[in-house]
Amino acid sequence: MTDIFDFEPRVDEYAVMGNPIKHSKSPQIHSLFAEQTQQSIHYTAIQVDSGGFKQAVGNFAAHKGKGLNITVPFKEEAWALVDERSERAECAGAINTIKFLGNGKLYGDNTDGVGLVNDLKNNYKINITAKRVLLMGAGGAARGVLAPLLNEKPASMVVVNRTQSKAKELAEHFSGLGEISGCGYDDLVGQQFDIIINATAASLHGELPPLPDKLVSTGGCCYDMMYGQQTPFMQWAAQQGVKIIADGLGMLVEQAAESFYIWRDIRPDTNKVLDVLRQEISA
Ligand code: ATR
Repeated sequence: MTDIFDFEPRVDEYAVMGNPIKHSKSPQIHSLFAEQTQQSIHYTAIQVDSGGFKQAVGNFAAHKGKGLNITVPFKEEAWALVDERSERAECAGAINTIKFLGNGKLYGDNTDGVGLVNDLKNNYKINITAKRVLLMGAGGAARGVLAPLLNEKPASMVVVNRTQSKAKELAEHFSGLGEISGCGYDDLVGQQFDIIINATAASLHGELPPLPDKLVSTGGCCYDMMYGQQTPFMQWAAQQGVKIIADGLGMLVEQAAESFYIWRDIRPDTNKVLDVLRQEISA
């Protein structure tokens, strides 16, 4: 981690803010994007203490910062802080990307959902349109990806959550964007889905949501938004005979690419960067 304020910036400054931030892969990903697209940028990771977020963003802007990625636990606070928001950020109630506009204003976007959609479509060649999709979880991670998923026009979208009322509330919030309902895990018995996405925090604790057997259709796909290890959900999918099982590394790289595009107006090739990260993780 570098302290960005130690020197006068010679190149355009970007950073990711969060807490913890030590293990963030964003500096590496954006440096690889910059190298590939020959953009002169410097990207660092800044750990921000609770209560210090607004001040940290102000300091960064004052030191000629051009843009920020925002991660846990500041995505909602960032949403409230910015002056303008994209439509998808508006729905998500959280942002992961800030662009400093020339007029001193802050523009906020949320690229998590489009990152997930692009990973499914471009890297796994999975079309979401007309598919039955199950999204597990009803916290910030689930909320952040729902608008871009619904924009793909799935046949149906079911949000399932341990606390059923939260799933129903989330479905209600997004009901204007497509066919969506909320339920509890018991209600899944006898149903089948083509795409199941894990947006719960269960994998972080080495836990598996209580999923019934035969939930995945033939040729269906299971996607865990976590990366870096075989999660209990990915293991469950393998036991169920699912052939397409994905972790969230592609989503991480794709959301970064979308942020990079917002800042620099140029799209990096995500495949090359994903290959580098995959090799590092499996080494
Ligand atoms: P995030 O911002 O990462 O989404 P969050 O807002 O704390 O974090 O939400 C965590 C989500 O994971 C919730 O949907 C939670 O379910 P509850 O709302 O019922 O608490 C879900 N979750 C966490 N551990 C889980 C587990 N072991 N099984 C199923 N769901 C779990």
